[in-house]
Amino acid sequence: MKYVIAAAALLGLCIQAHAATATRGGFGQLADGTKVEAVTLSNGAGMSAKIMTLGATLQSLIVPDKAGHKEDVVLGYDTAQEYLSRPDYFGASVGRYANRIAKGKFSLDGKTYTLVTNDGPNHLHGGTKGFDKRMWKIDSVSSGPDAKVVLSYVSADGEEGYPGELKVTATYSLNDRNELKLEYRATTSKPTVLNLTNHSYFNLSGNDARDVMGDMVTLHAARFTPVNATLIPTGERKAVSGTVFDFQTAHRVGDRIRDARDQQIRFGRGYDHNFIVDGNAGTLRPAARVEDPVSGRVLEISITAPGIQFYTGNFLDGTYFGKGQRAYRQGDAICLEPGVFPDSPNHPDFPTSRLNPGQTYMNTIVYKFGTK
Ligand code: BGC
Repeated sequence: MKYVIAAAALLGLCIQAHAATATRGGFGQLADGTKVEAVTLSNGAGMSAKIMTLGATLQSLIVPDKAGHKEDVVLGYDTAQEYLSRPDYFGASVGRYANRIAKGKFSLDGKTYTLVTNDGPNHLHGGTKGFDKRMWKIDSVSSGPDAKVVLSYVSADGEEGYPGELKVTATYSLNDRNELKLEYRATTSKPTVLNLTNHSYFNLSGNDARDVMGDMVTLHAARFTPVNATLIPTGERKAVSGTVFDFQTAHRVGDRIRDARDQQIRFGRGYDHNFIVDGNAGTLRPAARVEDPVSGRVLEISITAPGIQFYTGNFLDGTYFGKGQRAYRQGDAICLEPGVFPDSPNHPDFPTSRLNPGQTYMNTIVYKFGTK
């Protein structure tokens, strides 16, 4: 009997040592008094992720470096109101259509839809009040081998000009293997288009200590989609080999980012392009790897989506002060945004962004952290 109790106690300890916890708390309030909630997922390996209800946003992500120092590896703000007032989508869940739709127009079953143009001539990241600026609801919070939070949002038929009532969930979960998984799901009441993604700005140096030019990036993509001067895909799927877009083996971000002989670099002011991820869309497969040689932090991203937008924070210009009053400047972060290709509704030969009633949209992203 004694042994049984001892064995049970040991088992209990083991289970506890491998459990990740989810803790619910507040994240202040907006200027209009709306209270913002947050859930912190923590594991036994030193990682923790804070997700807030405004925009189902990944507000902070604490990850140990090679010496075990735990620091924040995503840009953001200290207060919820700043996320609303400053249009950079730090860590946000972006929708209905992440990235651009040319001239804010698309047609579906013979009907033309007009969306707001909030990025020069184009529609960007869901419009004036996209999912990043909406209050999401916490559906459930749980601890266990995976600490998890499920958030949901119901987007009314016609919101920001898109057809169909869209019911969306974002599920964040963290396990002890330092994998943060994010799953977007959606259903619609009418045929519509959508592209949900997370817009985290990663800076693996920790607390934005350095820019990302020294980071080594690998992208598992043999092709990318070149763009025009307003960052709308031309429709071409171009081989990366022989170009500054070849990250099939690891390259320092900064090595070729100023190579203005490539018109695509001029258009993007650096990297701001969709890469076509090798392998089959719909299957979880490696898309990108980022390594900061100084802190030793490594991020590996696996995705189910057909593409990933690689954006190097080119439009950060130092006017916004983020966490700890750091001025965020060009090249301070790497965004890797998995999704369908930009402007897909206007490119019938791109992977479809259409969702019909009765179907479930899915986009799964796994961010795995380690050190080297
Ligand atoms: C786009 C950039 C844009 C940024 C805004 C990225 O997804 O590719 O062009 O400036 O989002 O935060």
